[in-house]
Amino acid sequence: MITILANINFENGLQLPESINLREVGLRDGLQIERPISTDAKLELLANLAEAGLSRIEATAFVSPRAVPALADAEMVAAELHNWPQVMFSALVPNIRGARRAVDAGIRHLEYVVSAADGHSMANVRCSTEDALRQVGEIVELVHAEAGTCEVIIATAWDCPFDGKVPPERALAVARRAVEEGADRLCLGDTIGTAAPGRVAALLSAVSAQHPEVPLGLHMHNTRGAGLAGVLTALQMGITDIDASVGGLGGCPFAPGASGNIATEELVYMCRDSDIDTGCDLDKLITAARWAQDMVGRTLPSGILRAGDRRHSRELVHANASPEPVLACLGDHYRPQDCVHRPGRRSEI
Ligand code: COA
Ligand code: ZN
Repeated sequence: MITILANINFENGLQLPESINLREVGLRDGLQIERPISTDAKLELLANLAEAGLSRIEATAFVSPRAVPALADAEMVAAELHNWPQVMFSALVPNIRGARRAVDAGIRHLEYVVSAADGHSMANVRCSTEDALRQVGEIVELVHAEAGTCEVIIATAWDCPFDGKVPPERALAVARRAVEEGADRLCLGDTIGTAAPGRVAALLSAVSAQHPEVPLGLHMHNTRGAGLAGVLTALQMGITDIDASVGGLGGCPFAPGASGNIATEELVYMCRDSDIDTGCDLDKLITAARWAQDMVGRTLPSGILRAGDRRHSRELVHANASPEPVLACLGDHYRPQDCVHRPGRRSEI
């Protein structure tokens, strides 16, 4: 044990970036698996998210309304996005037809999904990985003609609910073809939330070694509780384009067992506590998450939504306590019973 500890450099601590480039996907990944809600309610959620400081938002998906009824109002959502000029909006597309719809609706940044596994590809977009890859070039051309960008999200990058473990070579081959066809960015999707830090690091480093010039993002689902651990791994590797979903909404309707993304407010909490700038206001994000929870009518999985920000839990525990005992008792071995409660002010910790 002593030998192991001696090898850890405590002086330098964690190597973390100063900021992250967070993309909110709750309006798309989050709502695609829910029963349809009104466009007005979506726009209210969007207003809350923008107010919380999110500057990149995936607004919707231009998919078949029969396949995903919850996103049948994509054009109506897109028509309102001019109300938040400070936000960079994007939309997911499943095929060329979706890309045309998105561009016609004024969207300039597209996410095109290609599953690394044929099983998920067939269930999700009813064609093989190879056939999905054949559409990349045309989608890129279409959006580049409008001065936009195309990101290829590699779904089931680690595991597929139908085919099982996906060999890393498949994800790497999808990445290579996507870049050859002109994709501007890549993103690895842990569609069914199975990847933990070892495999996250291995695939991220293989893809970035293969395409060092292409921005690479990470899209984790928290199905098995390893979502934030995967994100922390990426951050330590200098990969800062991270997807998250308000309240932990989310899941692919065409992947059995899929559940929510990492919750945006959990990610923002982790970053704030680690001095990483997200540009977001946590209180306002929690308000947005509450709105999302009321909107979908079920308890969302976010721990921050359940427990609140620690700054506020301190206020609850120490209501009317003076700052001295607050600071004294909030050490590593904090036990509420050790606190001396006295009337007085509250302080930041
Ligand atoms: N937008 C709207 N409608 C579309 C469409 C699009 N992008 N692409 C196809 N369609 C319509 C067709 O017009 C056709 O409509 P009809 O039945 O009224 O004639 C119908 O969808 C089927 O078209 P087809 O080309 O045969 O597609 P498909 O049945 O093989 O479905 C997809 C393919 C991709 C359209 C469909 O599977 C889909 O939208 N999947 C969404 C996947 C998704 O969102 N997953 C979660 C995110 S990863
Ligand atoms: Zn997803």
